[in-house]
Amino acid sequence: MKSARHSVLCFLTLGFALAVVASEPDIPIADFEGATYGDWKVTGEAFGPGPAHGTLPSQMTVSGFRGHGLANSFYGGDRSVGRLTSPEFAIRRAYITFLIGGGGWEKQTCMNLLVGGKIVRTATGPNTKPGGSEELAPASWDVREWAGQNAQIEIVDEATGGWGHINVDEIVQTDRKPPALLLDATRSLTIRKRYLNLPVKNGAPKRHVSLLVEGRVVREFDIELADTAPDWWAFLDLTAWQGKPATIKVDKLREDSPALNAIEQADGIKGAEDLYREALRPQFHFTSRRGWLNDPNGLVFYKGEYHLFYQHSPYSWSGDDKHWGHAVSTDLVHWRELPIALYPDEHGAMWSGSAVVDWNNTAGFQTGKEKVLVCMFTAAGNPFTQGIAYSNDRGRTWTKYAGNPVLPHIVGGDRDPKVIWYAPDKKWVMALYLDKDQYALFSSPNLKQWERLCDVVIPGTAECPEFFEIALEGNRKAMRWVFYGANGRYLVGRFDGRLFTPESGPISLNYGNCFYASQTFNDIPSADGRRILVPWGPIATPGMPFNQILGLPVALTLRATDDGLRLRVNPVKELRSLRTGRTVLKARTLVPGENPLAGVKGELFDLSADICLDQAAEVRFKLRGVAVMYDSKAQELSCEGKRAPLKPVNGCIRLRMLVDRTSVDIFGNDGSLYMPMGVIVPHDNLSLEISAQGGAARINSLEVYPLKSSWQR
Ligand code: FRU
Repeated sequence: MKSARHSVLCFLTLGFALAVVASEPDIPIADFEGATYGDWKVTGEAFGPGPAHGTLPSQMTVSGFRGHGLANSFYGGDRSVGRLTSPEFAIRRAYITFLIGGGGWEKQTCMNLLVGGKIVRTATGPNTKPGGSEELAPASWDVREWAGQNAQIEIVDEATGGWGHINVDEIVQTDRKPPALLLDATRSLTIRKRYLNLPVKNGAPKRHVSLLVEGRVVREFDIELADTAPDWWAFLDLTAWQGKPATIKVDKLREDSPALNAIEQADGIKGAEDLYREALRPQFHFTSRRGWLNDPNGLVFYKGEYHLFYQHSPYSWSGDDKHWGHAVSTDLVHWRELPIALYPDEHGAMWSGSAVVDWNNTAGFQTGKEKVLVCMFTAAGNPFTQGIAYSNDRGRTWTKYAGNPVLPHIVGGDRDPKVIWYAPDKKWVMALYLDKDQYALFSSPNLKQWERLCDVVIPGTAECPEFFEIALEGNRKAMRWVFYGANGRYLVGRFDGRLFTPESGPISLNYGNCFYASQTFNDIPSADGRRILVPWGPIATPGMPFNQILGLPVALTLRATDDGLRLRVNPVKELRSLRTGRTVLKARTLVPGENPLAGVKGELFDLSADICLDQAAEVRFKLRGVAVMYDSKAQELSCEGKRAPLKPVNGCIRLRMLVDRTSVDIFGNDGSLYMPMGVIVPHDNLSLEISAQGGAARINSLEVYPLKSSWQR
């Protein structure tokens, strides 16, 4: 804590020291706070009938503007064009300052200063590539040479493609010299410690930082470098370059910014003493130590270790420039983070994919005794392609295949290869997302050459395919194949090595609000035989140095039900190792108005209940304030506005619910209902409640296990 406080102080002192007192008051030119553009001339459609109040429909979140309004030419999307022209004004101050964002196309998405009808200054937003940010950033012009002359400002949107819009706000004449932007600011150092710790301020203008070792760029990335007190510290592993001379280069840096000097070489991650103790840090769901996380990737089991890779933005809280983070576990409960496995490369950022053990060395990558792990991923460049990387040391280090891409671009945003071994034909099979609800299957003898086998359509889903074999009713002689997309809508069918033929579905795997892009483990030993799934849990963790969670590992089984073939989902048994004490309620009647759990207090819980509804119209749990309600008449379970069907069996329902700091995972009737919920559980509420409404219910059994954190052994 001491060092964190110290650095905050440094930022403040520097900031204050550089404040300069203005001589003449500023003259506002436009703040776009009115309902219309007033006396500005508007042509075309792009700027809409008046200033936008922030983000327009289908636009990424616009931030960095001042007040409520701004000029935003995304009205009608990127396709629309238009222009805003200011009335004439006299140049009476030394500088014109403004906030600008959006497209970076010169002459097409820009703001111009006109003197005598000629463009004398111009500025654009920062973006020309897919991705990027809608953040407005400060910019300025020195206009002293036109002092006293009449001028006009025009804001132009003539672009119709990607980033075909411009955002502007807060145009002001001022005598206060805006801090200059230093270009390619550098700092030299000799690498002597394990990490570089980098100060991040969420929402600050993005800077492009390069790390050069012996003159060669070894890492480069965008980061919202903190010019003021940082929100959190990102880290970069320096292990590979110990003892070497290095340079940190920042493409643009405000001259008064302390950020470059604040970047710190250290043996630990800054603030490591608080790791896993942060207020919203889940205690038994996987999270990244720092930065953004989304899809689980490359789930594979090899030699006693479950490998978990995940979509990771190590330098950003909001998800930029995807890498593959990496963690391992021997029990699916306690995870140990390893260094980042895949970094973006010349083919693009590292988007989702899978991993396999190449038992037969089909790709020829094996160099020693250890079997090779191979990852297949999407390189999200322009266009997207699919590539592979391999490891000869149990996933500790990774090499990209020199022949990448192994599958050229096919269509749209084709991505997220899921590879499995198809034993009957001794070949690899890959499921790939193509576009909208379209997927395709491919096969390969060696992970390098791929042949398209067939196409698969799953209405109502997109992205992240899963394709695996599973025993019906646990009978290995009655195998079926499951194919699903990122939201978990699944088909069950048969596969003959070339063609997937659906027999049922699509059906929703889950009813929660905290489930997406799930994947199942490859290479689980047949003696175990489970199909273990891990989803991404999309829930924001504001104020934390990390963002988003992974869902609990769950085991899938396939059952023949009255409704057809259905997957059942239950938490993996290993999670029971976190149980500490136990409160058991014996069978009893639950009369409205009583709460037999009133005496139980705690933070993390695993709760199992078997309840007969009898006369109760509703049975209601309050898990640390989070309501989970069962409506007997509607036969529906609801939580945080989500509803899910759950049919009583002989008048009774069974629930298993696991409460962590930012989630409640709900399983109904032995896995026929799967409802992972992302919810920030109130930290000061440690109570549990069960109650019957509108009549008595009956508790057959109710067991509550307080859980310990998986981060403390
Ligand atoms: C799903 C997804 C994938 C993509 C990845 C990028 O959440 O959009 O389709 O590969 O995330 O992080």
